[in-house]
Amino acid sequence: MLKLIVPKPATLKLDRRQLIKAGGSFALIAGISRSPLLAAPLGANPFALGVAAGDPWPDGFVIWTRLAPRPLDEHGGMPAAHVPVRWEVAEDQGFARVVRKGEATALPELAHSVHVEVDGLLPHRRYWYRFATAGSDLSPVGTARTAPLAGALVDRLRIGVGGCQHYEMGYYDAWKHLAAEPDLDLIFHYGDYIYEDAAMPLGPQGKRNNVRQHAGDEIYSIDDYRRRYAQYKSDPDLQAAHAACAFAASFDDHEIDNNWASDFDQDGTDPAIFALRRYAALQAWYEHMPVRKAQFPIAGGLTAYRRLDFGRLMRMHVLDTRSYRSDQPCGDNGGKSACPPEAHMQPDMLGKTQEAWLDEGLGNDAAWNLLAQQVIVMPIDLRPADAEEPRHGTDLWDGYRPARERLIASVRRHGLSNVVIATGDHHKHMAGAVPADDDRLDGEKVAVEFLSTSITSGGNGVGTAGLEHIVRNNPQIDLYADQRGYQLFEITPKLWKTDIKVLDRVDRTGGKLSTLASYTVEPGRPALHRS
Ligand SMILES: [Fe+2]
Repeated sequence: MLKLIVPKPATLKLDRRQLIKAGGSFALIAGISRSPLLAAPLGANPFALGVAAGDPWPDGFVIWTRLAPRPLDEHGGMPAAHVPVRWEVAEDQGFARVVRKGEATALPELAHSVHVEVDGLLPHRRYWYRFATAGSDLSPVGTARTAPLAGALVDRLRIGVGGCQHYEMGYYDAWKHLAAEPDLDLIFHYGDYIYEDAAMPLGPQGKRNNVRQHAGDEIYSIDDYRRRYAQYKSDPDLQAAHAACAFAASFDDHEIDNNWASDFDQDGTDPAIFALRRYAALQAWYEHMPVRKAQFPIAGGLTAYRRLDFGRLMRMHVLDTRSYRSDQPCGDNGGKSACPPEAHMQPDMLGKTQEAWLDEGLGNDAAWNLLAQQVIVMPIDLRPADAEEPRHGTDLWDGYRPARERLIASVRRHGLSNVVIATGDHHKHMAGAVPADDDRLDGEKVAVEFLSTSITSGGNGVGTAGLEHIVRNNPQIDLYADQRGYQLFEITPKLWKTDIKVLDRVDRTGGKLSTLASYTVEPGRPALHRS
């Protein structure tokens, strides 16, 4: 039986007849309306999904909200009308010094989401923002920091990394703790913001333990995806993380379908049919993420890869490892059964255009380059403890060795020793370094890689118990742990520090946070130092 967790706010009864009766006209309802009657969602909180900011530049960032007084209802409980939303940005939390303000229109075509690209702000400064409808409804207050000016010398950046937040498998205390981290500049979300699967019964289900439930069946249509985002975004801890810090959002597979690869889903669906699902899912992703107009969906998809610069300290390359990749070798077995080494040779992970864009972008004199992406880059032998033959994932860069060779060649051609890779997808914490040669795991390294574990996916986890053989079989890694949490990057010109944060449990709220390990890296050498 489905048990919906999201509480239903007070009923919003607002059909067209009532609107007309209340003083509107059909023309007003159907067209761009400034009517306060339309703007006031009459007795229900229109900001039930919170607020967010994203993609900071030196002069501003995106601020986001979506009007949805009844998140799980049709259209989020909104009337099919254009609704004005006022916004303001201030230098102080109390909004005594408002520096930018304006009005946007929430459109039914975009699920009444609002994306404002705020500009005219000062570099590397904290601001506060909020929204209001024409009635008396005020949104929660969010805060975000602009990026440093291009060329500026920057002392320090602090970046959180999280993702893989299966709603059914745990509570979002990791987001609550990340929201409380002091002085964050950015949170990189590596993807799996939602999961597409149907509701599963509560309680232990094989390897998983469901502590709450998805609303509904597997999702296919745009309304399905919107409703799933609405359910996830109703979580107060996730809302707190968004309100505390700007995000750089990317997506992985579950925003659409497990292990999808460009035109192909995991079930062998006709690509023309899958394209419809993918497009619907990507539009919903845009509607719910604080991203810029450059990520606006157009027929056939959207461009998610982009750069964020932080003065001379760091260039962040946000990558899309799903939209342009070749299909996985050996089908979608995920390395669970034998796939011969010679088959792990699919040609493209980024696609030619993104690959050329990344190669060009790596030509820079920043102290650090962060490749913010989704799946494990380094070769990694994931064989079970009792298996004799190495086993490599087919959905990882391991399935795409020619593409990895070209990435490594690009880093070396630019003479970079300062590349750090942020990874997700795998539901483990991992720290290691990428070998220059796939077949010499203990040889020369070209980049450091930090895989941040899931927020909830996989449930409580087992720590390192029973997984010691992974580190033993892989001299290029120092840590491999199955526990939930996030990572924290503290970046200075001379030193990169990564704190690996874990929660003792996610099957109950109030999970206790601790630091499992910390690593430092120097920009002149791609090597880990445990601190
Ligand atoms: Fe995941």
